[in-house]
Amino acid sequence: MRAPARVGDPVHAIDTPALVVDADALERNIAALAAFARARGVALRPHAKTHKSARSAQLQIEAGAVGVCVQKVSEAQALAAAGVSQLYVSNEVVDPAKLDRLADLARGARLAVAVDSPVGVERLGRALARSGASMDVFVEVDVGHGRCGLPPGSAAALARHVSGDPHMRFAGLQAYHGRAQHLRSAGEREVAIRHAASIVRAAQAALSGAGIACPLVTGAGTGTFTHEAASGVWGELQCGSYVFMDRDYADNEPLPQAPRFEHALFVKSQVMSRGTSHAVIDAGHKSHALDSGPPSVWGAFAGLEFANGGDEHGILRAGAGHGLPALGDTVWLVPGHCDPTVNLHDMYVVVRGGLERGVVEELWPIEARGCLG
Ligand SMILES: Cc1ncc(COP(=O)(O)O)c(C=O)c1O
Repeated sequence: MRAPARVGDPVHAIDTPALVVDADALERNIAALAAFARARGVALRPHAKTHKSARSAQLQIEAGAVGVCVQKVSEAQALAAAGVSQLYVSNEVVDPAKLDRLADLARGARLAVAVDSPVGVERLGRALARSGASMDVFVEVDVGHGRCGLPPGSAAALARHVSGDPHMRFAGLQAYHGRAQHLRSAGEREVAIRHAASIVRAAQAALSGAGIACPLVTGAGTGTFTHEAASGVWGELQCGSYVFMDRDYADNEPLPQAPRFEHALFVKSQVMSRGTSHAVIDAGHKSHALDSGPPSVWGAFAGLEFANGGDEHGILRAGAGHGLPALGDTVWLVPGHCDPTVNLHDMYVVVRGGLERGVVEELWPIEARGCLG
């Protein structure tokens, strides 16, 4: 694998296209959410599905996070192999072979997983009995996403099932409202999380009616976390994208009382062809994901509109008041969606000192890149 830069290179020497992290902005984002969580008395278990990198997870844990979340068993394996030992698979796993891998991993790391079915609990129980390990288990409640999770009234029966297994500790409720995260107005997001809180309270009432203590409610993302933190219901936040802040998140109306996160993830590209009314850069959708819309242009050419030109090409058109870059010029992109953009790259080029005059400080492997299973 060829690295796009060497440690010590100036920014201008980074080959293109490359996935570049502004280390100063990343650290400020990590510190800002850690300080917010501390001040509100909630725990932080950031989602590593965003960065997929052990180094980033370690920075979050050093700043006070209790561990990190992942979505896939293979992500947990990759990060555990790179030294991250507090991992929560905040997702359902029912395949026996995957559960065996998870149960084996739990012999050397503190692991947690979400469940939403008796079949999932039974299969997890068999895998844990075979490996001899134990695991924290969260029962997922559907709080409005319409994805995984049980209706609140069904949480108690499944929690009892979990508690009855000698290898499982009932850790509480998983309650993440993904669809709320990108509602553009802060008011709409507040309403969605108020509704989610009422569903969680119903699940908690069902648990207490059944005599089951609920140690923790975990959930929340970058778009809504101030509401979960203020609700008195959630005790742990799972925000992921705040570390990088993609274009899609920057399009949200800011949350009241939230720290302002900065863009910290960029694709460095270069103009490879130039027409009279457009410039072509060497970054197409092999370099950045388009599922949440196009990247925005950052830096000297901010304001130019990006249009997808294919796998390896991006097209910038001259617009009112915005001059086009010249052949060979550097163009910085802020990805539309950070998580799948990261999944397209082998490593981060970590720059200290800004995108203008900074220097490559480190290259970080993206250990959980491509970990789909
Ligand atoms: C279960 C769960 N928790 C937390 C997150 C993090 O959300 P965000 O990246 O929007 O902060 C996600 C993202 O999809 C998720 O699926």
